[in-house]
Amino acid sequence: MCKEAGCGACIVSYSRPSDDAAFGRHIVQGVNSCMVSITSCQDWEISTIEGIGNRLKGYHPLQVTLAKDNGTQCGYCSPGWVMAMYSLLKTKPRTMLDVERDLSSNTCRCTGYRPILEAFKKFASDAPPNKLIDIEDLRLCHKDNELRKCERKIDNTDWYLVSAKEVPNKMIRLELHDHRTWYRVEMINDIFNIFITEGTDSYMLINGNTGKGVVPILEYPRLLIDISCVWELQGHYLDQNLVIGAGTTLTKVMEIFEDISEDEYFSYLKVLKAHLDVVAHIPVKNVGTIAGNLMVKHRHPEFQSDVFLLLTTVGAELTILYAPGLTEVVPMHKFLQLDMTGKILLNVLFPPLNSQYKIWTHKIMPRSQNSHAYVNCGFLYKLDKVTKEVLECRIAYGGLSPKFTRAARTESFVVGRRLFSNETLQGALSVLDQELTLFVVPMPPNPSVEYRKDVALALFYKGILALAPKNEISPYYATGAIKIHESRPVSKAQQDFDTDPATYPLNKPIPKLEGLLQCAGEAKYTDDVPTLPGEVYACFVLTTVPLGKIVKIDPSKALERPGVIAFYSAADIPGINSFIPVNPKYIVLVQRDEELLCDGNVKYFNQPLGIIVAETEKLAEIASKLVHVTYTDVKKPVLDIKIAKRDPARNTLTLNIPATRVGPNVNRIITGERTIYSQYHFCMETLACVSHPTEEGIKVYATTQWIDGIQGMTSRALKMDTGRIDVSVRRLGGGFGLKITRPTQQAVACNLVVSKLNRPCRFIQSMRTNMRAVGKRLPNSVDFEASVSDTGVIQYIKYSIYSDNGYIFNENFTSLGMDLYYNCYDRGPWNYTSYNTVTDTASNTWCRSPGALENVTSTEMIMEQIAYELGLDPLNVRLANLDRVRHNAIQEMTDSIMAKAEYRERRNNVERFNKENRWKKRGLRFTFLKWSPFGTQYYDVNLSVFHDDGAVIISHGGVEMGQGVNTKAVQICAYYLKIPVEKIQIKPNDTLTTPNGFATGGSLTSQNVGIGVQKCCEALLQILAPVREKLENPTWEQLIQAAFAADLDLQTHALVNASDQEYSDVYGVTLSEVEIDVLTGEHEIKRVDLIEDTGRSLNPDIDVGQVEGAFIMGVGYWTCEEMVYDPPTGEVLTDRTWDYHVPQARDIPEDFRVYFRKGSFGTPKALGAKVVGEPATCMGVGIALALREAITAARTDSGISSRVWYDIDGPYTVEKIYLNSATKREQFKLN
Ligand SMILES: Cc1cc2nc3c(=O)[nH]c(=O)nc-3n(C[C@H](O)[C@H](O)[C@H](O)COP(=O)(O)OP(=O)(O)OC[C@H]3O[C@@H](n4cnc5c(N)ncnc54)[C@H](O)[C@@H]3O)c2cc1C
Ligand code: FES
Ligand code: FES
Repeated sequence: MCKEAGCGACIVSYSRPSDDAAFGRHIVQGVNSCMVSITSCQDWEISTIEGIGNRLKGYHPLQVTLAKDNGTQCGYCSPGWVMAMYSLLKTKPRTMLDVERDLSSNTCRCTGYRPILEAFKKFASDAPPNKLIDIEDLRLCHKDNELRKCERKIDNTDWYLVSAKEVPNKMIRLELHDHRTWYRVEMINDIFNIFITEGTDSYMLINGNTGKGVVPILEYPRLLIDISCVWELQGHYLDQNLVIGAGTTLTKVMEIFEDISEDEYFSYLKVLKAHLDVVAHIPVKNVGTIAGNLMVKHRHPEFQSDVFLLLTTVGAELTILYAPGLTEVVPMHKFLQLDMTGKILLNVLFPPLNSQYKIWTHKIMPRSQNSHAYVNCGFLYKLDKVTKEVLECRIAYGGLSPKFTRAARTESFVVGRRLFSNETLQGALSVLDQELTLFVVPMPPNPSVEYRKDVALALFYKGILALAPKNEISPYYATGAIKIHESRPVSKAQQDFDTDPATYPLNKPIPKLEGLLQCAGEAKYTDDVPTLPGEVYACFVLTTVPLGKIVKIDPSKALERPGVIAFYSAADIPGINSFIPVNPKYIVLVQRDEELLCDGNVKYFNQPLGIIVAETEKLAEIASKLVHVTYTDVKKPVLDIKIAKRDPARNTLTLNIPATRVGPNVNRIITGERTIYSQYHFCMETLACVSHPTEEGIKVYATTQWIDGIQGMTSRALKMDTGRIDVSVRRLGGGFGLKITRPTQQAVACNLVVSKLNRPCRFIQSMRTNMRAVGKRLPNSVDFEASVSDTGVIQYIKYSIYSDNGYIFNENFTSLGMDLYYNCYDRGPWNYTSYNTVTDTASNTWCRSPGALENVTSTEMIMEQIAYELGLDPLNVRLANLDRVRHNAIQEMTDSIMAKAEYRERRNNVERFNKENRWKKRGLRFTFLKWSPFGTQYYDVNLSVFHDDGAVIISHGGVEMGQGVNTKAVQICAYYLKIPVEKIQIKPNDTLTTPNGFATGGSLTSQNVGIGVQKCCEALLQILAPVREKLENPTWEQLIQAAFAADLDLQTHALVNASDQEYSDVYGVTLSEVEIDVLTGEHEIKRVDLIEDTGRSLNPDIDVGQVEGAFIMGVGYWTCEEMVYDPPTGEVLTDRTWDYHVPQARDIPEDFRVYFRKGSFGTPKALGAKVVGEPATCMGVGIALALREAITAARTDSGISSRVWYDIDGPYTVEKIYLNSATKREQFKLN
C-alpha cells in the first residue's frame, strides 16, 4: 500500500454533511482512507468492503461479479476496486466510458485491468442487458447527491457564501496522544481566534488532507485545524464574477463548472472541467479542495499544479482573508509571493469571458491518467471578431520551473497579430524558444530540460491547431489538434480458447477459488495478523551516502523520543550478518551472503544499517530519521550499467556459448548497443513480516515466496535451531520475484527484534523504503555485431549481454537467459557471452521473467534493427531467421494471427495513415517468443481426508500469489478423486507441514504442486482400493467412512523433486498497433492480438489472466516505468506512486485479443498444460517495436531515412518518443 492516495487499495465510501448541510443534504463518495485522519471523521458514515457484503449477510453484486469475471489475482487491490466502483455508482449512473475513465483511482499490478473493467462495465447505464445483474440488488440511491442549485439570495457583501447566522457553531478541541492539538471549526472567525490563542508558528489547516499525497508529511505541525466543515469557505455564487469558496472540493468545483458553463460568459468553464477530469482521481477530488491545491503550490512552487495553471490561464483572482472582514483580492502571480502565515484563502473569482475568448489547455503525463503533469499549459486568446487579431493573451505553463508561470514576452509578441497564420506562429515560437531557454530548469525526477522546453513549444503549436477554424488548417496537420487520450473509446477485448468438457474439472474455465473472499475483503494477508498486547513496530534505518565507511552510529536522539524502544545494528546480530540462505542446492537461486545490516562499509545509498523499534509504526518511521550516522571516505557511485560495463573491475564473464556455425552469405555487418533500465515490482503489498515469540522460539508470518529461506536465515542470524522457528504464509499481495529472497532481510530483522525484546514485532516496509533499499529488475545492456545476408538472415552474431546485479552478484540470471538469448531463431550462428556487472546500487533481484525478458527482448530489437538497416519488412526478417526445425510452431501461430488480425489490410492502413498525417503516426509490429522454463523445485504436498464427511484438505509448498496455484491444485485433486471442487480446501503454507520447500517462482510452481497433488491422490486411491472393492458403487463419503472404520491412513504425502521436472517450450506471437502524438510523445495502444501456446490449459480463465497481466507488466517496463537516481548520490528519486508510474486502466490496449494455440499439449506429467505466469511479459516489447515504427515515420517526415537506426534506451517514455521523433520547430505550420 502506498499510503499516499496513489494505489487505491484503501478506498472506502463515506457519507457526510455537505455545504448544503443546513438543508440536510449529505454526500456519498469514495475516499482514500490513507488520506483521512480519524479525527476528521466526525459526522461521517463510512462503508467498508466488509460492510457492503460479506459471508453472513450475503455478498454485494459488485463483489460477486468481480470474482466471477476473474478480476482478482493476488486480491490485494480488489476491495479498493469494489469500493471505488461502489462509490461511483452511489454518486450517479455511469456509462461504460465513464467507468473506464473514473476508475483511475486504482492500480492493479496482476490482472492487466481487462477483467476488472469488463466486470464493472456490466453495471454501466449503457451496458448491454445482463440477466445476472439486478440493479435493484445494488441498493443504490442517488437522490441525496443530486446537485441542487442554491436558490437563496445570499448577502455577499462580506464575501462569505453562507451567512454566519445559518450555521450553528460547534468547535471541537482535542489533545491528541502525540501532544498535538486538533481543532474542528465551523466558523472562519474561530480559525483566527485559534491563531490568536495558539500562535501561528506551527499549524496546518486541514481540508481534505490530500496535500500530503503530493508532498509527504513525516511529522505534522503542532496545531491542526480541520476546516472542512467551514461552510463559509464553500459553495458558489454569481455576481459579475463566478465566486467559488476556496474550501470547495474539486469534485464540487467540477459540478459547479458544468452547471454555470450554460451561461455564455462562462462557457469556457467546460474547458476547465475537461482539464480537471485528468487531475488526480475522483476520491482525491472528493475531499481535496482548491485552497489545499493552491497552498501546496504556494509552499512548493515546483508542484505542477493544474489548478493554479487553469486559474492563471483564465485570469482568475483570489480573495485572501487577513483577519475577520479584512480581505485583499490578488492575481495569481501575486499570491505566490505573499506570506500566507496566519491568512486564509477565502475564495476564487472567475471572470466572465465572452465568445471572443478562446481557451485551450493540456497536460502531458507519463501515462494516460492519475499522474501529475510533466508539463501542463493553458492558452487564452481574445480575438478580434473580424480580423482575428489577438487583442489579449495569456500563455501559462507548469512543470517548466518553480518560478516560470507565464510566457510574458511571447504574450506581448502575439498581441496585435493574426493568430492563425504561419508567420505569427513561427515568430511566436521563436520568442517563446528564447524565453524558455532562460527559464526552464532541471526538475528531477521529471524529464529533461530539453524535452520539457521543446514540448512546451510543441504545445503552443498544438493549442493553435486546436483553436483554429478548420478551414485555416490543412488536413495533413489537422490531427495535431487531437488529444490522443481524450479520443480513446471504450476498450474491448476477446479471449479465444478451446476447452474440452470431457476432461473437466481439468481444463475447465472456473474463477479462482479465493476470488470472492478477496473481493469481499475477507482474504487475509500478513498485515491482517491481529496485533497482540505489547507488540512493537520495526523500521530500517538507511545509510545516506552511496559509498563510504561508517565512523559512528548515534541513535540517542531517536531513543530520547517517548515511545522509541530500541535500536539495533550489525553488532547486535548474534549469528551471521546475512539474509541469503546460501546452499549448494540453491546455486541457481542464490550464490553468496548479503549483509542483513551494513557492516561498516556502505555499498549503496539507503542500505539498511540498523533497526529502530517503537510503539507505533509512525513513530518508528520518524525515529529512523533521527539516528545520526557519521561517515568517512564518501565516494561518488557508479549507477549506470552503460558506464559500469566499460570498467573491467566491475564485470565478470559468466558464460560464453560459442557459435556452432558461421554462414557464408555476408551482405552487411550491423552493430548496435541497446540498454534498458530497471523495473520496480510494484507489489501492492510491500514487504511485511509479523513475528510472535512462542514457547519454543518464534512464529513468523511473512509475505514471502520462500518460507524455508526465512526459517534458515533466522536460524543462522539468531543462532537458534530451525526447529524453534515456524514460518507461515497464507497468500501474497503480489510477488513477481521480489518476494523470493528480499523479504528474508526484513523477516530476519523482525525476528531479531522479537528475540531481543521477547515481544511480538510488526515490520511493514513503507513503499518508499521498499523502493529505495531493495533491488529491482536488473538493468541490462547488450552489445552486438551481426553479419547478415541480403534477406537479413544472421550468418554470425557476437552478442554480449551485461546484467546489472547492483552492488553484488548473487541471483543467477545468466542461467535463466542461457537458452533464450536467440529466442526462437536459428541458434547456430550466435556467439553468446554474458557478464555480471556490478554498480553501486541495491542488489537487484528476480522480476517476472528474469533473464528471459532481458534476452528475448534484446533479440527482438536486433531483428528490428536488421530489418530497418536493410530496408526489409521486420516480419520477413524474423521468419527468415526462424529455427523451423525446433520452433516451427511460431510460423503456424503467425499465420493464425495474420488471418485473425487482418494483418495485410491493417498494414496498408497504417502506411496510408502515416502518409496522410504529420502529427499522429502509427506502428504495427510483430514480436515472437520462445520461452523455456528452467530450474528444479522441491515441494512437499500433503493430502488429508476427514472421516466424517469426506472433506479433503491439501497443504503444499507453493505460495499463492495470484497465479492460481491453489485453484489448479483443487481442480487436479477433484479430477483424480472424482469429487466436487467444493469438497477440497487448501491450507496455508507452513514450515510445519511443508518443510525444506523451494521458492515459488519460475512459473513452475503450479505444475509441480499439481504433480504432487496427483501423486497424493494416486496414493490415496490405492489405499482406498480394497475398501472400494468391497462396497457397491459407494459415494465418496461412504467410501471414506468405510476406510476410516477399517483403520486406514487417510493422509497421503508426496515429494516433488528433480525427478519430476518436465518442461516444454512456450511460444507466443503478438501483433501490436500503436499511435503516437508526435507533438507530445504520448501514445495509445490501438490493438493487440496475442497468441500464446499454453498447452492444454488447466484453467483457461486463470491462464488468460496470467497472460494479460504479464503482458501489461511488460508494457509498463517498455513504456512508462522509469527509475530515476540522483547521479551524484545514487539516491532513488522515483520512490513513490507520485513519481513511479505503472500502467493504469486506460493504458491497456483499446482492443485486446488473446488467443490460446489450438490443439497444443504440454507434457503428460503436467497434464498437458504449459507454464503461463511469466512468458507474456516478454511480448510487451511489441509495443516498443510498434512505437519505433511510429517514431520512424515521424523522423522520415523530418527528412531522416528510415534506414538510419537510432538507439533508444528503454523505456519508451513520452520524453523519448518526442525527442526521437526529431521534430523541428520550423515544421510547425497550419497549412
Ligand atoms: C494522488 C494524488 C494525485 C493528484 N494529482 C494532481 C494533479 O494531477 N494535478 C493537480 O493539480 N493536483 C493534483 N493533486 C493535488 C490535489 O489537488 C491536492 O492534494 C488537493 O487539492 C489538496 O487539497 P486538500 O483540501 O486536501 O488540502 P490539505 O491537504 O487539506 O491542505 C493542504 C495545504 O493547504 C493549506 N490550506 C488548506 N485550506 C486553506 C485555506 N482555505 N487557506 C489557507 N491555507 C489553506 C493547509 O494548511 C495545507 O498546508 C493530487 C493529489 C493526490 C493525492
Ligand atoms: S491509496 Fe491509500 S494506500 Fe494507496
Ligand atoms: S489482483 Fe490486483 S494487484 Fe493483485
